[in-house]
Amino acid sequence: MARFHDLKVTDIHKTIRDAVVVTLKPVNGSAAEFDFIQGQYLTFRRDFDGEELRRSYSICAGKDEGILQVGIKRVEGGAFSTWANTDLKVGDTVQAMPPMGSFHTAIDPAAEKQYLGFAGGSGITPVLSILKTTLTREPRSRFTLVYANKGVNTIMFREELEDLKNLNMGRLNVIHILETDAQEIELFTGLVTQEKCAELFARWIDIRNTDTAFICGPEPMMLGIAAALRAHGLEDRQIKFELFASAQPGRIKRKVSDTDTASQANRTKASITLDGATQTITMPKDQSILDAALDNAMDAPFACKAGVCSTCRCRVLKGDVEMVANHALEDYEVEKGYVLSCQAYPLTDTVVVDYDQ
Ligand SMILES: Cc1cc2nc3c(=O)[nH]c(=O)nc-3n(C[C@H](O)[C@H](O)[C@H](O)COP(=O)(O)OP(=O)(O)OC[C@H]3O[C@@H](n4cnc5c(N)ncnc54)[C@H](O)[C@@H]3O)c2cc1C
Ligand code: FES
Repeated sequence: MARFHDLKVTDIHKTIRDAVVVTLKPVNGSAAEFDFIQGQYLTFRRDFDGEELRRSYSICAGKDEGILQVGIKRVEGGAFSTWANTDLKVGDTVQAMPPMGSFHTAIDPAAEKQYLGFAGGSGITPVLSILKTTLTREPRSRFTLVYANKGVNTIMFREELEDLKNLNMGRLNVIHILETDAQEIELFTGLVTQEKCAELFARWIDIRNTDTAFICGPEPMMLGIAAALRAHGLEDRQIKFELFASAQPGRIKRKVSDTDTASQANRTKASITLDGATQTITMPKDQSILDAALDNAMDAPFACKAGVCSTCRCRVLKGDVEMVANHALEDYEVEKGYVLSCQAYPLTDTVVVDYDQ
């Protein structure tokens, strides 16, 4: 089971005024645990005035760079991102869980594929990791990146992308779409909507030969892009998503009255396996599996508690649960019985779940 490890900050620099790129080195012999797959993220934890916050940040380094690096953009009023941008220094120690996430496809050195990446703002981080890894490990594949930002000043990794383009002439194409800054080509100004994608596919992007598309950015933008991709023939299995924050809160929890809560009908016997040990608890049906595990002193993994990151994934082996929000698991995972435990509420009187699978 994933646990927190110490990482030393070996470098930190600004990529734009409001974003830092942080290089990290695992200490205490945990380097092997931080071997990542391109597109994965790290979940950090830190105490802010006695309250532990957990936040996930995607790895922006490619597999062949030999470094562990994340990019953190400051969110107005955001606790962790502001701290990282203003107080974090070289030499500091931070705590993070080993890499997680399934925002990637398998790399095949013999493949000759066309990839399409869409990123909005800080959503570039996992796409950059995928893009760099693909360019070095699939020498015959090509990558087109559509990168949306407010203006030129807010483009993270702008110079690095320019260098990559020059190094990979003919294999990497980068299209910057700027919301407010006018560009020579009118189509490249404005928001990335379904309609704009359709125009890009008509004139700038060879959508018919695209094998896989990766999308990471604000939710409305992701939905528009996905709709355009589907309308142009891509199947769901060819579209990979990574969501940083959901605009939609999870569905309101079922209300159970005080008398109901006490009654046996609204309680579930849950057997929860974590780190090889199984604990059987009795929990109310209006409590999530994750909260029930935490309330019973089990060290279950979690980060966003909003159905976005998948850190809390577990597998239901017996009984039924209802997942009230799911922005992270793919259909094939749900079919195999995986659920986001922060969003999963028992429906049956007995459930058996396993965090170790
Ligand atoms: C899998 C995953 C990977 C991620 N990777 C990255 C990454 O590589 N780089 C990066 O900069 N961030 C990334 N994020 C987002 C990051 O985890 C935090 O949500 C973000 O930094 C805000 O945290 P905070 O503590 O600063 O703000 P909080 O104190 O949590 O929030 C402050 C305010 O900002 C709003 N808010 C929260 N998150 C966002 C957001 N993403 N955009 C706009 N408003 C927001 C909240 O509604 C609130 O009003 C990722 C998230 C996930 C789930
Ligand atoms: S903790 Fe992020 S999905 Fe459950």
